[in-house]
Amino acid sequence: MTPYATEAIAEEGSAIWFSQFGAPNAVVELRNGPPGHPGSDEVLVEVEFAPINPADLNVLEGKYGILPTLPAVPGIEGVGVVRKAGAQAGGGWVGKRVLLPHGFGSWRKFGVCHKANLVVVPEGVPVQQAAMLRINPATAWCMLREFVSLKPGEWIVQNAANSGVGRAVIQIAKACGWRTVNVVRREGLEAELASIGADAVVVEGEQLAKRIEAATGGALVRLGLNAVGGESALGLAKVLTEGGTLVTYGAMSLQPVRIPNGLLIFKDLDFRGFWVSRWYAQSTQQQRQSMFNQLFQWAESGVLHTPVEAVYPLGEIDTALSHAARGARAGKVLLAP
Ligand SMILES: NC(=O)c1ccc[n+]([C@@H]2O[C@H](COP(=O)([O-])OP(=O)(O)OC[C@H]3O[C@@H](n4cnc5c(N)ncnc54)[C@H](OP(=O)(O)O)[C@@H]3O)[C@@H](O)[C@H]2O)c1
Repeated sequence: MTPYATEAIAEEGSAIWFSQFGAPNAVVELRNGPPGHPGSDEVLVEVEFAPINPADLNVLEGKYGILPTLPAVPGIEGVGVVRKAGAQAGGGWVGKRVLLPHGFGSWRKFGVCHKANLVVVPEGVPVQQAAMLRINPATAWCMLREFVSLKPGEWIVQNAANSGVGRAVIQIAKACGWRTVNVVRREGLEAELASIGADAVVVEGEQLAKRIEAATGGALVRLGLNAVGGESALGLAKVLTEGGTLVTYGAMSLQPVRIPNGLLIFKDLDFRGFWVSRWYAQSTQQQRQSMFNQLFQWAESGVLHTPVEAVYPLGEIDTALSHAARGARAGKVLLAP
């Protein structure tokens, strides 16, 4: 084999690896290797797109609920096409577009996984949207359904409302007939969020609870979704009605949720947490498929859409990571292996 051919084959299996936890840019490296061979019940998937989510950065930093054994390939979600199937995998897999299994290690060109862990993506779903469905829209969907039985026209309050999850909350709530009051940390997002279905947008700061109440006309709010913590979470908690539920699923400000005693005593608020990894581990195959069917339908019809700000090849992982860690993005950063 010529040196050129060897190099070409090696590059086919290129992947991002990390061997220690630390600052994302400092610990990742691009390595080449063979694509891999599927075992009898397995398939070989060629990854098309994989997002860089905050959780991926947390895993690289060693600050996440589940950490891989190192060395490992990062990337919790993504989408790809099956290129080879093992002898017992059953027919029809080759050529199918699939959501990669949860925690696949999606920042690679090729990967092998068991066929049972794949979700087939219907043809009409835009491929980049499919790459981002498993984590954020799924989180929004679960939080809107699992904690409070919302009635038509009811209000939900949330922060980090322009994030991937926040936008999915707005879009799903709109599709289901619920109203959202959306807290963001900077000006200039009002028109954009209104265009995807936000009923009200409030910027973090002084008198947050009063301004949220003014935006809803003092409506009863039974569900709050918190991805920030600190003062922002307190503002959400203050507007909840007696017996209301605040679900914390992120900690973007790194500030703890601090709750005045009175909110517990006089309003008996319920403080809950949500982690989609736990949901995937505890839900049934039927529950997961039913959720994906709905998310696929919404993604195909455009009801659910997550903007993408930039797409990078694996070879530009340093730039991609720096970009993903930046504030005030207009959308997600994707890797296109
Ligand atoms: N528990 C779960 O299962 C689960 C699942 C999915 C996501 N999450 C969490 O949800 C959060 C959002 O994830 P994502 O992928 O949707 O995010 P994303 O699309 O990457 O957007 C990040 C968002 O966080 C905001 N933000 C950053 N730092 C902030 C701060 N100090 N205070 C207030 N807002 C801040 C950004 O605002 P700017 O635009 O102004 O920069 C932006 O809206 C993350 O914490 C993530 O880990 C949790």
